[in-house]
Amino acid sequence: MSEFTQPNLRVLLSAEQIRVRIQELGRQITEEYAGKSLLLVGVLKGAIPFTADLLRAIDLPVQLDFIAVSSYGASTKSSGEVRILKDLDASLKGLHVLVVEDIVDTGLTLTYLLDNFRRREAESVRVAALLDKPERRIKEVAVDYVGFPIPNEFVVGYGLDYAERYRNLPYVAVLNPE
Ligand code: PRP
Repeated sequence: MSEFTQPNLRVLLSAEQIRVRIQELGRQITEEYAGKSLLLVGVLKGAIPFTADLLRAIDLPVQLDFIAVSSYGASTKSSGEVRILKDLDASLKGLHVLVVEDIVDTGLTLTYLLDNFRRREAESVRVAALLDKPERRIKEVAVDYVGFPIPNEFVVGYGLDYAERYRNLPYVAVLNPE
C-alpha cells in the first residue's frame, strides 16, 4: 500500500498549501532582512524539509547551519532541559540568525535555543516555525514567522514523525490510531 495514502492519515495541510505559505514567508523575510545577510539554523531532524524549502524562498545572501537537540534528556519534560546532540559548525557572533523549526509545541526547545544563541552574541535571533500549537505552550516564546497555527492534534509529515516514520509525507496529516 502507498505510504502517502494510508487510511489512518487525514490531510491537514496539503503540499500546495504548504508551498504557497512558504513562498509568502520567504517574501516577508526577504523584505524584512533587506540589505542584511542571514544565517538559517535548521533544528534537526523535523525541520529539514521546511528549512530546505524556506531557504530557496529567501532572495538574500543566506548561510545554512544545523543543530540537533534531544528533547528532554533524562529529566522531566517540564524542566525544559535540552541537550545538544550536534552543535552548530560555526560561530554566531555578529550574525542575524533565523532559527527554523517544524513545530513549536510546549515551547521548551525553542526557549532553550533562543537563550543559548543569544549568549553566543548573535546580532539578532528570530524564529520561523511551519506549525504552531499554541494550546500546548508551557513557556511563552515569540515565534516571529508562523506558517500555520494548528489545533492540538498529533500531526505527522513534511518532516514530522511518529516513531521516525512519516517524515517523508509531502503534506501534514493528523495521525489517527488504527
Ligand atoms: C520537535 C520539534 C521541536 C520540538 C518542539 O522535535 O522539531 O524541536 O519537538 O517541541 P516543544 O515545543 O515541546 O519543545 P523532536 O524532539 O520531535 O525531534 P525531531 O525534530 O528530530 O523529530
